[in-house]
Amino acid sequence: MTTAIVVYDPWYGCTQAAAEEVARGLSEDSRVVTVVANVKSVTVRQVLGHEIIVVGSPNHRGGPSPRIRRLLEAMRAVDLRGRRFVFFDISVAPSHGRAVGRMEGILRHENPFVSPSFMGLSVIAARPRGPILPGELSRCRELGRSIGNHLALSA
Ligand SMILES: Cc1cc2nc3c(=O)[nH]c(=O)nc-3n(C[C@H](O)[C@H](O)[C@H](O)COP(=O)(O)O)c2cc1C
Repeated sequence: MTTAIVVYDPWYGCTQAAAEEVARGLSEDSRVVTVVANVKSVTVRQVLGHEIIVVGSPNHRGGPSPRIRRLLEAMRAVDLRGRRFVFFDISVAPSHGRAVGRMEGILRHENPFVSPSFMGLSVIAARPRGPILPGELSRCRELGRSIGNHLALSA
């Protein structure tokens, strides 16, 4: 049995909605036990207790929110081999995609012990306070399903 955690930062609610949908997709795989966690109330130790770590953040000025940044920075000095990281972000259209790459970069910075990230997704919101564009939540669920499929392939 594999355990997964989907951590999100709750600003206006889009990232939380996306996180819950990723978790639903993951939970369709009976081999994966999934929890969803608010970054405000989860510890680094709790996050590191899971093999699959999904981190979702709103895109704030092209990178993750400060709380997500701090979480990733706190994991830098840790041997993360064997854990799988998946990142997603929420942007308004023009700069979508950038926070996902930044999140990976923050985690990898001067850390030789990170497994390759195998997935990432950028979700688009209509406006800074949402809503998420139609169809985007099904992409989040598909991301969750894909993680399970990837596990099946690499088992
Ligand atoms: C301080 C701040 C900076 C932001 N910077 C960007 C940005 O550079 N690019 C972008 O596409 N959206 C930007 N946004 C919009 C957020 O990406 C959007 O509010 C968020 O993804 C919605 O998710 P949430 O409901 O979980 O907060 C910014 C929002 C805030 C509050």
